[in-house]
Amino acid sequence: MAKDYSKYFIKPSIRDARKRRKEDTPVLDFDDYFNIQGIGNGKTYRIETYGCQGNEADSEKIRGILEALDFTQSDDLEHADLILLNTCAVRENAENRVFGELGRLKQYKRNNPDLILGVCGCMPQEEQVVEKILKRYHYVDLVFGTHNIYKLPEYLETVLLSKERVIEVFSEEGSIVENMPKIRENTKKAWVNIMYGCDEFCTYCIVPYTRGKERSRLPEHILHEVQELIDQGYQEVTLLGQNVNSYGNDFTDRTYRFKDLLNDLHQMDIARVRFTTSHPKDFDEETVQILAKGGNLMPYIHLPVQSGSNEVLKRMNRKYTKEEYYQLVDHIYHYIPHASLTTDIIVGFPGETEEQFAETLELVEYCRFEGAFTFIYSKREGTPAASYEDDVPMAVKKERLARLNKIVNKGYLHGSKRFEGKTVKVLVDGTSKNNDSILAGYTENNKLVNFAGPTSLIGQIVDVTITESKTWFMLGEYHDGN
Ligand code: 5AD
Ligand code: SF4
Repeated sequence: MAKDYSKYFIKPSIRDARKRRKEDTPVLDFDDYFNIQGIGNGKTYRIETYGCQGNEADSEKIRGILEALDFTQSDDLEHADLILLNTCAVRENAENRVFGELGRLKQYKRNNPDLILGVCGCMPQEEQVVEKILKRYHYVDLVFGTHNIYKLPEYLETVLLSKERVIEVFSEEGSIVENMPKIRENTKKAWVNIMYGCDEFCTYCIVPYTRGKERSRLPEHILHEVQELIDQGYQEVTLLGQNVNSYGNDFTDRTYRFKDLLNDLHQMDIARVRFTTSHPKDFDEETVQILAKGGNLMPYIHLPVQSGSNEVLKRMNRKYTKEEYYQLVDHIYHYIPHASLTTDIIVGFPGETEEQFAETLELVEYCRFEGAFTFIYSKREGTPAASYEDDVPMAVKKERLARLNKIVNKGYLHGSKRFEGKTVKVLVDGTSKNNDSILAGYTENNKLVNFAGPTSLIGQIVDVTITESKTWFMLGEYHDGN
């Protein structure tokens, strides 16, 4: 019987994505969905990944699936049989880059009509993006979202066999899929998802709509994955979630939370444990105290503040005040004096006054951030802030961003300078981008260090003495046998 392909035409709905239901999250097993063999035999693929670490981790799963289907990765974009763009929706310029890339890829499709061109990730979760693809990018063969990566084998089979377009985006909540195959980019450092989705609904942010309800992975699954990584020789794990501090809040059958996970990982034989991203409102003192145990828990915390003004924080729905943020930062420096803090800041949020912006500058100075991702507010259709009146002219937003970045860069340099003359532990990633005889790696405080040394050190954690600090990196000396 012929397959009914019309079912593969499900478009996203922001209304459905907004809903939150109480039911427990279903945990699916990828093996139950994987019954297609060899459809990628003799075919090459290429994935382009945009956006955050969550997308990078998803791309590793997509690669895992494609290689399980016998596709082979290729750098030759022009002759690839499958090109997938794993997209980010968090700001408009990220989306524009993807549309630009789709325009560029049109010629490849013209030269090779058998090329399968796909768009996945966060952008397809937005209704207007799918509409735009349908109208203007009719040469895109495959569109799927963040909740249904596990169905990729089925989608590819459909596109390959029937030459039908597949558009399937689930807008509701999502599940957790365990046992997805993964091809990791790095052999020493691994991403480990501990939760998916977000329930915060910061008013500027599209993520709760594109990634669905907050769902925590079961601790036994996380710890099992970390143990496997240890067995494979991994040195570092980074725990991923939009708000790792609320890990476990959705469990109905246990009281296990983020601090318990940190405690368990602290006992394990992995050299470095990192995590991102933290939400200040859920980062309690007890968690800081656990981090203060040190060992494999790294003294580096990314703690997005977004703004230093209580009025702006309120309109952003961040659910903390600047005073509470200051108190958390004080706790961190009290318990972990050598910690490095970084942050995210949005300037030019609708209605932000000069005085409110000045409070952000003051906060940045106070918190001694050693780095920050700074953004001009970008209006996202479907979010509450999209309907706020935005009376801050773009020229003012740009000027604020430049003023903020000046202070942030001072913090970067100051954060690096304090290590001059000190010996620090560096996990060696590889050779420096511009020079093969120079090694590059990161310190426990997440600072990039370049130093001369044999390539045999790659993948190891070694002692390096910092000789000079620049704004974005530090120079060091490695002494053999030290
Ligand atoms: N405009 C600008 N920046 C945004 N971010 C999220 N949404 C927006 C938006 N609409 C920033 C926040 C967040 C980071 C990942 O991206 O600072 O912490
Ligand atoms: Fe977006 Fe806020 Fe969730 Fe972060 S916590 S993903 S900024 S809604």
